[in-house]
Amino acid sequence: MNQPRTATGDLHGDPVHRELMAGLQSRQKTINPKYFYDEAGSCLFAQITALPEYYPTRTETAILKSHAQDIARQVGKQRVVIEPGAGNCEKVRHLIPALQPRCYVPVDISTDFLADAAAALNEIFPELQIEPVAADFSRVISLPEAVDCRSAVIFYPGSTIGNFEPADAVKFLQRMRGLAGAGGSILVGVDLHKDNAILTAAYNDRAGITAAFNRNVLLHLNRLLGADFRPELFRHHAFYNEERRRIEMHLVSEIEQIVNCGSTRLHFAAGESIHTENSYKYTLQDFSALVATAGLKLEQSWSDPNKLFSVNLLSVARDGG
Ligand code: AVI
Repeated sequence: MNQPRTATGDLHGDPVHRELMAGLQSRQKTINPKYFYDEAGSCLFAQITALPEYYPTRTETAILKSHAQDIARQVGKQRVVIEPGAGNCEKVRHLIPALQPRCYVPVDISTDFLADAAAALNEIFPELQIEPVAADFSRVISLPEAVDCRSAVIFYPGSTIGNFEPADAVKFLQRMRGLAGAGGSILVGVDLHKDNAILTAAYNDRAGITAAFNRNVLLHLNRLLGADFRPELFRHHAFYNEERRRIEMHLVSEIEQIVNCGSTRLHFAAGESIHTENSYKYTLQDFSALVATAGLKLEQSWSDPNKLFSVNLLSVARDGG
């Protein structure tokens, strides 16, 4: 993720630099959460998913495992399954035996990681045709020509949709609708609105892994911007904003300080925060409305007995909707 400097060492024309500096120079300082995921950040996130307080990953996995047959009945077998941001292709494993896809197309920005994950999956399912695509799925993806990807199933687990602003979630779903094509489907994991205490604990774990994950973004920025953030001078702060139904993560400056970002000096008042992430929690009713705005239909939702998490099947109309 390191950005190469130009010959003059000037990063100002670089889109990553521009995006980050615009966020850091706004009235409420912000960092786009995609910058969490450098190598160390991805490792910390993997640890988060195994924390006792962080229920989403294990709950979604349990839903996929226990409802795989029913999901396959609704989705249909022999479909092409496309997974944007597939990472280690872990969750699709629970669906493959029931879904029996014609082809699986994992899409991820990290070429090496993707190749390893595809090879590992192939060991478990030697008959499965896998066509990995190394691409940034936030841009236009070209699908493998060897596969007829019409009426595909887009698999988007993990409740990552909750990290988009609702308007951006609609735009994302519209893009996925285009990718799935007429008669296609989208299977998406969505974290549900629930008791404040459960949510707050999930983002304030006792081992401090989420705090380390949050602070690590500053080390990533130091490399990207030639900055001198000192993460130990920022406190992790995560809370549930009931009104907006989202967990907000912030990094709060412990003292008044100046941080140098290349040639730009950033002033922080003591107690001032950088807003690093939103994680929206939906009711099924609200999610259904959001999906309708994207021109899709919520066909079915599967949940756990405690209604913590949901896996949702969305359909694209036969005429492309
Ligand atoms: C990736 N995403 C769904 C996680 C979430 O819960 O919003 C990121 C995360 N942030 C803190 N803990 C986990």
